[in-house]
Amino acid sequence: METRSPILEVRRLAKAFGGLKVTNDVTFAVRKGELSAIIGPNGAGKTTLFNLVTGKLVPDAGEVLYKGERIDGLHPADIARRGIGRAFQITSIFKERTALENVLVAVLAREGRTTRLMRRALSHGREVRESMELLSMVALADRADTRAGSLPHGDQKRLDIAVALALNPELVLLDEPMAGMSPEERSVTVELIRRIWKERSLTLVFIEHDMDVVFGISEWIRVLNQGAMLAEGTPSEISRNRDVITAYLGEEIVE
Ligand SMILES: Nc1ncnc2c1ncn2[C@@H]1O[C@H](COP(=O)(O)OP(=O)(O)OP(=O)(O)O)[C@@H](O)[C@H]1O
Ligand SMILES: [Mg+2]
Repeated sequence: METRSPILEVRRLAKAFGGLKVTNDVTFAVRKGELSAIIGPNGAGKTTLFNLVTGKLVPDAGEVLYKGERIDGLHPADIARRGIGRAFQITSIFKERTALENVLVAVLAREGRTTRLMRRALSHGREVRESMELLSMVALADRADTRAGSLPHGDQKRLDIAVALALNPELVLLDEPMAGMSPEERSVTVELIRRIWKERSLTLVFIEHDMDVVFGISEWIRVLNQGAMLAEGTPSEISRNRDVITAYLGEEIVE
């Protein structure tokens, strides 16, 4: 795996809020095609790191490179267009729109089309078909006409993933895709994340607190603690790392 070229490089990245160093000299490289997790205690700076990579926040120092080009400081829409998709810890879907409309708006946006009239949007046959395929990918095809806001929480999280995929990203960042899901929803979602990663040949980085999920599907794990990179490695390396056990995992045997 070490021979794969990096798709994303984060170099000496720093961000502070007030006096608090939320991202403290963070450096790592994500290899193309990797399925990896970012873990760490609440407040470790995981979501902030995604915000810095996707342009929602501008770093105080350091660099972010996507396919070898600097992207730090670019507008979030530019970064998304270059191929970085993202689903949020708190979903970003339009609650008043149907599931299909949420995905369709994103597919049309990718093609540079705005949609003032949903009726007109729904007449774009090819885009509607593509949106339906994306919905089936996240097991929501039978919910296409349901108002997003009335979907169960787990369905809303998966809809947000479909919206992220609508931009045809090569790199996908998922912020706690399993948060708030029942154990049944979790196992469905883990499987579909793995399948989407494989079928679309994505590079996929997810933040997650569920260690069964993290250690079950990740090829590589990065651990953030108090804004800094505490460790990175394979699941078996991370589960045996003393610093990680002390700061986050506890003594419970993970494997
Ligand atoms: N916009 C902001 N202004 C001020 N402080 C912020 C802001 N965003 C995040 N923080 C602080 O930065 C720290 C890191 O937050 P962040 O959301 O990145 O953590 P996290 O690792 O994603 O945590 P969790 O696992 O709970 O989601 C926290 O102390 C948080 O309160
Ligand atoms: Mg977070």
